[in-house]
Amino acid sequence: MADITEIQRRRTFAIIAHPDAGKTSLTEKLLLFGGQIQVAGAVKSNKIKKTATSDWMEIEKQRGISVTTSVMEFDYRDYKINILDTPGHQDFAEDTYRTLTAVDSVIIVVDGAKGVETQTRKLMEVCRMRKTPVIIFVNKMDREGKDPFDLLDELEEELKIHVRPLSWPIEQGARFKGVYNIYEQKLDLYQPSKQVVTEKVEVDIHTAELDNHIGGVLANKLRGDLELIEGVYPEFDGEGYLAGDTAPVFFGSALNNFGVQELLNCFVEIAPSPRPVQAEERTVQPAEPKFTGFVFKITANIDPNHRSCVAFCKICSGKFTRNAPYLHVRAGKTMRFSSPTQFMAQRKTTIDEAYAGDIIGLPDNGGTFKIGDTLTEGEALHFRGLPSFSPEMFKYIENADPMKQKQLAKGIDQLMDEGVAQLFVNQFNGRKIIGTVGQLQFEVIQYRLLNEYNASCRWEPVSLYKACWVESDSPEELEAFKKRKYQYMAKDRDGRDVFLADSAYVLQMAQIDFKHIKFHFSSEF
Ligand code: G4P
Repeated sequence: MADITEIQRRRTFAIIAHPDAGKTSLTEKLLLFGGQIQVAGAVKSNKIKKTATSDWMEIEKQRGISVTTSVMEFDYRDYKINILDTPGHQDFAEDTYRTLTAVDSVIIVVDGAKGVETQTRKLMEVCRMRKTPVIIFVNKMDREGKDPFDLLDELEEELKIHVRPLSWPIEQGARFKGVYNIYEQKLDLYQPSKQVVTEKVEVDIHTAELDNHIGGVLANKLRGDLELIEGVYPEFDGEGYLAGDTAPVFFGSALNNFGVQELLNCFVEIAPSPRPVQAEERTVQPAEPKFTGFVFKITANIDPNHRSCVAFCKICSGKFTRNAPYLHVRAGKTMRFSSPTQFMAQRKTTIDEAYAGDIIGLPDNGGTFKIGDTLTEGEALHFRGLPSFSPEMFKYIENADPMKQKQLAKGIDQLMDEGVAQLFVNQFNGRKIIGTVGQLQFEVIQYRLLNEYNASCRWEPVSLYKACWVESDSPEELEAFKKRKYQYMAKDRDGRDVFLADSAYVLQMAQIDFKHIKFHFSSEF
């Protein structure tokens, strides 16, 4: 068997949030508790954005947004924590969806004043699809926000999940006094300073001791609130949380490092260790003796001085050992990895072994890996990832420098392997169309082609509504359809037929006219 203790002490998760809810601030504070950074309280948000230890690429620094996913790992108490960072910008949502295939649980940060926002809602849909256990951190309690009971209702309704508060705020904004930690049954008193570690008091809330700390009026209000909570919300149920049905809720202020350690303490205790992973062939248990893993992310140029790619592999079972022979299932090749790495943002270290739950970086300079590739000790397994969804924006990509045709082709190829965007080739005119979920991705592609591949591209408009994968049980009807729509037929990178609909109306008419053709909005059907 693999080393069960090693596997069970691992907690691999992502923090997700709508931009500006406080994901970066929370990540920084968690790193602080893990001893990975020593800048307690001194971390200011603006600085975080410019120098965040999780930002790798030059473009991120320029724009102040996180566009690639990085991994941060540290030990806390007896646990090994792996945080997968996700891009904050909604144009990179697809990247985040993919990262969610590699985590065992999720912490959602919600801005206490804004409540549930678009991006939170979308990301929660993916968590729900995968039944990922979710903890919610309501942030910015030092600011005036919504009534906490209203907020809980909103979370339940909008995120379609049961909630169960495990801490409870005493006032908010300028009057914020702290939280009562229901999970630990302690009172955490807030001091509005980034330098001070919060005072934790064990109080019996039914005694006058509570009144001494927060005053009679607030003490009575807190008692009433807690009674209401106990009356309305069923007791915290670890099983319900692990099944993805109930989300425990914590309140705090990431910027002020308040409520973060309490969140972390509870998280390590209740969050799942690596969970079984579904492959096409069977379910893979983390404690199986043999190593298996899949690539969920590929990034280029972590170190701008050395042109290199890294494939991020989530270990699903067993133990990974450096230099051991592993099967790259898609390529049918046995490979050895002499310098696998683990990460602490800019810092990376070569490792000799890693266990189920860990994320390892495999150097890949020859385009060996694609998103979704599986590695095993010989078994022909295929892990299921998330499908590609129909992009929302489309542009023709053209070569702007005739001398650099080859570089451009290689750059496009590798960026598509990384899953930066989707490529379709129009069968009528042979032109390449790039599809993305946001405008910013076009800029990133152009920037990266120039900086990493020395190739120039130019975008030309193409007015499209959706790309649909088409299939049919009737080859004749499919042929007839392709003939009729020949100007709008394309192939994806796997050579599958894609219909480029230029409007919702055209798509609707096609669906009516060709009843035996199925139009799919995602690449797996
Ligand atoms: P993100 O990664 O989710 O985008 O959020 P980030 O942590 O960068 O925080 C977004 C903004 O919210 C930052 O303000 C940050 O200071 C602020 N913030 C985060 N947590 C808290 C909190 O607990 N309380 C308060 N009051 N604010 C918080 P900014 O305007 O971008 O920077 P700055 O000018 O405030 O430094």
